[in-house]
Amino acid sequence: MTTQPSEAFVYLRGEFVPNSAATLNVRTHGFLYGTAVFEGVKAYWTPERETMFIFRALDHYRRLHQSCRILRLKPTLSVNQMVALTSEIIERNGCTEDTYLRPIVYKADERVGPLLDVPGTVDDFCLFTTPMSAYMDTQKGLHLCVSSWRRIDDNMIPARAKVNGAYVNTALAKTDAALSGYDDAIVLTEDGHVAEGSAMNLFLVRDGKLITPSVSSNILEGITRATVIELAQKELGLTIESRQVDRTELYIADEIFVCGTAVEVSPVTRVDHRNIGDGTVGPITKQLYDLYDQVIHGRHPDYTHWLTPVKAAVLSGS
Ligand SMILES: Cc1ncc(COP(=O)(O)O)c(C=O)c1O
Repeated sequence: MTTQPSEAFVYLRGEFVPNSAATLNVRTHGFLYGTAVFEGVKAYWTPERETMFIFRALDHYRRLHQSCRILRLKPTLSVNQMVALTSEIIERNGCTEDTYLRPIVYKADERVGPLLDVPGTVDDFCLFTTPMSAYMDTQKGLHLCVSSWRRIDDNMIPARAKVNGAYVNTALAKTDAALSGYDDAIVLTEDGHVAEGSAMNLFLVRDGKLITPSVSSNILEGITRATVIELAQKELGLTIESRQVDRTELYIADEIFVCGTAVEVSPVTRVDHRNIGDGTVGPITKQLYDLYDQVIHGRHPDYTHWLTPVKAAVLSGS
């Protein structure tokens, strides 16, 4: 059984420390101004192989480095070093169940004043694990609302970068949706087009085609989104339209699903109290859900290059 977060190791300031010792000063720049970037990475336990597989680790750390470039952060570790530390923390924490990993590069200097580039300042890398099976009960079909909160624009806080402070936007949309009885929210761009879910990308099916808001729609360029596009094209032979999407296209879609590292591929069966299609999980969504499930668990031979095995997890966890 995975070590629980309260006792687990956290990587902070260049070393593994117990969770209770993983503390930051209140003056830390990343805390004062949200000047940090992060990733959500998932590793899956595959019982028949007795192995943890990290899904698309390289892609997550490449994106983390891109987020650093946007926010003028200087990561002290390479992409490969970050992947290696991710394997190591899974081993050290004896993870033998589906696990979410949160790597963060943050402005670590203790300083009042928002300026990013101050000579001599330090940007640190930290990483922790937390067990995560289902993010929410998604297979029943989600009921989403269109949020009254708009997605922050590329020229405000770029959604393309996973900036910690930007997730206030997500928190507002998700919380108001939950308080109104919805499972989650869809956010629109400032000009009223569909961007994405609160922390997930969104796809529609119309007349057998897969449609998703383009990368210029103030979305995070999701790794699950890219995975779904590749699987839909190669395995199902579907045509993909990556373009501007109107709000009312949601209401007339045959199927809708959301996707992301945490939410995986999850059907949406209602939006704003309107049934999507016949209000049940659609056939294309179901096929993509099944394919994704095979791929992340190493059960599809054509996509094992996306998996980093952490074999030793079993040894140190038992
Ligand atoms: C705003 C936002 N959009 C989309 C996604 C999905 O991205 P990914 O598939 O890379 O996890 C996430 C999740 O991290 C997110 O926070």
